[in-house]
Amino acid sequence: MMESSQLNDAQLKYFQTLVAEETGMRLAAGKRNLVVSRLSKRLRELELDNFSAYISLVSSAAGLVEKQTVIDLLTTNETYFFREQPHFDFLKKLAIQRENKGGPLRVWSAACSSGQEAFSIAMVLHDCLGTRPWEIVGSDISLNIVNKAKAGVYPLAEKEKIPPEYLKSYCLRGTGKQEGKLQVCKELRDRVSFRHESLLDVRARQPAYDIIFLRNVLIYFDAIKKQELVRQVITSLRSGGYLLVGHSESLSGDNPDLRTLAPSIYQKK
Ligand SMILES: C[S@@+](CC[C@H](N)C(=O)[O-])C[C@H]1O[C@@H](n2cnc3c(N)ncnc32)[C@H](O)[C@@H]1O
Repeated sequence: MMESSQLNDAQLKYFQTLVAEETGMRLAAGKRNLVVSRLSKRLRELELDNFSAYISLVSSAAGLVEKQTVIDLLTTNETYFFREQPHFDFLKKLAIQRENKGGPLRVWSAACSSGQEAFSIAMVLHDCLGTRPWEIVGSDISLNIVNKAKAGVYPLAEKEKIPPEYLKSYCLRGTGKQEGKLQVCKELRDRVSFRHESLLDVRARQPAYDIIFLRNVLIYFDAIKKQELVRQVITSLRSGGYLLVGHSESLSGDNPDLRTLAPSIYQKK
């Protein structure tokens, strides 16, 4: 493990700028130890002795792929099934209301990390709506994590967070090489699509979604970026649709197009 003194101020600034430009996230100066601990393993893999050599590589013409690796390593991907249960109770209520009304229910798990959030949504929707139309898209800026989401394979210990009846209906226990793991069943995996993309991608979006989960990602943005990101994301939300943020996050009057329904639950006007 490298010492934090081996990453000087200018080098720390380089990674802060890279992360800010690629993701919009603010990596505070106090995160020097985090940057060192997450990147030093990579330096060892590449047999590089110091951060100066690594920065030369990342900033070279050939460094595009390595830039993605830096993003993969410096984003915080903590997540788990049924995180913040009240949001799933709310989702269930909406799904039941939707049961007898025509159109598909469309949900976006924005900044989905390794997919547990999107699959928790899928379990609720399959339970309430079965084969009636519903769609879930998950997206994240970390390529590595999006690939994990697509596989839908998790350590078996994560089953503790899944309600027993859902575990029985929607998860398979790994055997042989997959011993100690669980996989979300194919039927749900086929109904959730995952994309590698940034929330800050500025492009024309259709107000297609009924519900957007944008949880535990806003905390990494400063106030101005956070506002910009929410404005951008809700262009994909239909009028009357819902935006859910993490329980410790708040939009407190940030956006005139949203009304607060409950703490962490907003409705687009
Ligand atoms: C802490 S996880 C939250 C996962 C999940 N939403 C939850 O609440 O459990 C934050 C995720 O945001 C992603 N992220 C950060 N900046 C992003 C951006 N600009 N666009 C898309 N995803 C981003 C990270 O890669 C990470 O997987």
